[in-house]
Amino acid sequence: MTELSEKIMINTIKRLKKEKNALILAHNYQIMEVQDVADFVGDSLELAQKASQTDAKMIVFCGVKFMAETAKLLKPNAKVLLSQNEAGCPMADMITSKQLEEFKKEHPQSTVLCYVNSSVEVKAESDICCTSSNAVKIIESLPKDNTILFVPDQNLGTFAAQKTNKNVIVWKGFCRVHHSFISVQDIENARENFPDYKIIVHPECSPEVFNLADIVGSTKQIADYIAENDKVIIGTEIGLIAQLRIKYPNKKIRSLSDKAICINMKKTSLRDVFLTLLEENNEIIIEEKIAKKALKSINRMLQLS
Ligand code: 13P
Ligand code: SF4
Repeated sequence: MTELSEKIMINTIKRLKKEKNALILAHNYQIMEVQDVADFVGDSLELAQKASQTDAKMIVFCGVKFMAETAKLLKPNAKVLLSQNEAGCPMADMITSKQLEEFKKEHPQSTVLCYVNSSVEVKAESDICCTSSNAVKIIESLPKDNTILFVPDQNLGTFAAQKTNKNVIVWKGFCRVHHSFISVQDIENARENFPDYKIIVHPECSPEVFNLADIVGSTKQIADYIAENDKVIIGTEIGLIAQLRIKYPNKKIRSLSDKAICINMKKTSLRDVFLTLLEENNEIIIEEKIAKKALKSINRMLQLS
């Protein structure tokens, strides 16, 4: 891509945004060129909140599919477009609605709490949703003696269970980026080489990792922590780290693992954003019956957030 064509695309994106009354939402893991043209960049909860509050006629979502679906559930009258059709979240696909039905049969009388990283069909079969930033709060809000079925992320479920002392049965899903590419060895190396740094990790990391960290938080909570601290090692996808290094050039920010790259989050290019706005392709369509049920679990979460 030449510098000129990049400039043309950025200017066209700006013009089309105004003409079409469109809002561009981007997740913290997106490449910097995409974050730079977005109206708002944030974590899953913030992006859902922005989608629910906007008056825009069109939302161009730069992230992965479940995030664009959540935006569509919250703004059914807006045209919601996923800027890269191939961007999915493999963890969200680790449980199907059929599997969830079976799981519920094995544990009748329990409450199903689903991580927002899930399909609309799974959300429709769940009682309430959560994101990584409010999982603890949502579990705390549920009746004391309830057994909670947490799907699909075993690590976030385990983290929230530890914090709340509730009876939580987790589905064995996981995010490969956090579960497999951020290790105990990475923490041990960081402690040895940078003893005066704090270590903050995302709760999708394994319990062995998050129990060794100083702090655990969502991508927004990590960003908030960096705002207040100068020497930090971050255990999450590298897109957030790139953003924070630009925002805070004088802070010492290190990545716990350079292998933590979400290929799905990296599929969206500036050209994709430009073409999506121009051609209005990759529209998110959700069957009305499923949307109605899924929205209930999202709204229950938003009311408590
Ligand atoms: P956040 O809600 O913390 O941004 O996380 C979303 C995600 O997909 C993490 O892998
Ligand atoms: Fe899904 Fe993991 Fe990528 Fe987040 S980082 S979108 S959980 S695969």
